[in-house]
Amino acid sequence: MSEPIDLAAFPRDFVWGTATAAYQIEGGVAEDGRSPSIWDTFSHTPGKVANGDHGDEACDHYHRWPEDVALMKRLGVDSYRMSTAWPRVVPGGDGPVNAPGLDFYDRLVDGLLDAGITPNITLYHWDLPQALQDRGGWTVRDTAEHLAAYAAVVAERLGDRVTRWATLNEPLCSGWIGHLEGRMAPGLTDLPAAVRASYHLLLGHGLATQAIRAAAPGAQVGLVTNHSTVEAASSRPEDLAAAVRMDGHTNRWWLDPVYGRGFPTDMRELYGVELPECAGDLETIATPLDWHGLNYYFPVTVADDPEGPVPHAREVRLPDVPRTGMDWQIDAGGLEALLMRLTDDYGVGRLYVTENGSAFPDTVGPDGAVDDHERTRYLEQHLAACAQAVRKGAPVAGYYAWSLLDNFEWAYGYDKRFGLVHVDYPTQTRTIKSSGHRYADVIRTHRGTHA
Ligand code: IFM
Repeated sequence: MSEPIDLAAFPRDFVWGTATAAYQIEGGVAEDGRSPSIWDTFSHTPGKVANGDHGDEACDHYHRWPEDVALMKRLGVDSYRMSTAWPRVVPGGDGPVNAPGLDFYDRLVDGLLDAGITPNITLYHWDLPQALQDRGGWTVRDTAEHLAAYAAVVAERLGDRVTRWATLNEPLCSGWIGHLEGRMAPGLTDLPAAVRASYHLLLGHGLATQAIRAAAPGAQVGLVTNHSTVEAASSRPEDLAAAVRMDGHTNRWWLDPVYGRGFPTDMRELYGVELPECAGDLETIATPLDWHGLNYYFPVTVADDPEGPVPHAREVRLPDVPRTGMDWQIDAGGLEALLMRLTDDYGVGRLYVTENGSAFPDTVGPDGAVDDHERTRYLEQHLAACAQAVRKGAPVAGYYAWSLLDNFEWAYGYDKRFGLVHVDYPTQTRTIKSSGHRYADVIRTHRGTHA
């Protein structure tokens, strides 16, 4: 039984898409002049990634992209959200451009356009050139400027065909998970470094926004951030305060400066780290955007944890709630709530759900089919939530399912499968899962609604 989705709520030109990221699918890490990124280093460091997995081959998309474009065509998507790999394009992080690296994306963009699929390009999805990490990475200001220079190179080359651009994907993960929790590259657990990195990421976002527009007039530039709704585990004042802190850490720290409010004072006090501020930075960070991308996966519930790490809020695992294979709570209401918050509180004028999806341990059945009914249900529930938000006035212009393919799920390796398309890694065989067929059906039905 499929879940009802109010498809008529979505406008005629609603964009249906799928999303991926370079390091998670490309492979070809040593080909055509690409240099190592912090994720090559991290994944090849024993103990950092489950099963010792890495992105050396991944989905071999670097060679198999025509097949992947054909798969998207079969699904009927309008748009493909992908990222370009900085270490392919500017292997040293700054300095010379690697022509074969840019040529790859040029061919891919043409292949997408030939298939009637609009590219939506993210410049930075976590694969910082290792050469820049060796010079301080995101903890130093230069990296923000190098991001802008690299963004200009890509926009100059592809901007005649690509209009939809995002600067960063999920700076929270780079900043907090990469520099504070150490679970992602570069693997630091250092609060001052994390705060400085978060600042330079957002500064880089602002500078890159301006650089893309200068290189490609008419570009529509956005930022992609990930958020969770935050609930207190009880009505105790300590837990309520913990929820405010967690909301600051997860949501406000990344949105307030971008929308002209500066970095939240309560969080600055909590972190107790001086920001590496220069005159004019806040204006750069708040450069007006054409759109905002929301990545949503799960809500969080927290309790006070005075002895724990910042933000001194411990996640509480609710019993008896549905969960994905990542052990993430499933709550489509969180997506609707965040879309409304971006609309009502931050005044965002155009929104895309740039990622949303679920991992489950899929298997290929004896008949060759992949029956992933749990993912299908997750998809339907979250599309229904989007439709509700649209009915309430949220300017949601599109939805990108994460992910087109099963892929390298960062520190979890290949065990966690998020794809609408199953990948058998030893043979690189692709199989559209039932969720992919359902998505294709939703897209067709929506088009029929407006025919
Ligand atoms: O795989 C990631 C993606 O790279 C960024 N957003 C969340 C996804 C699932 O964890």
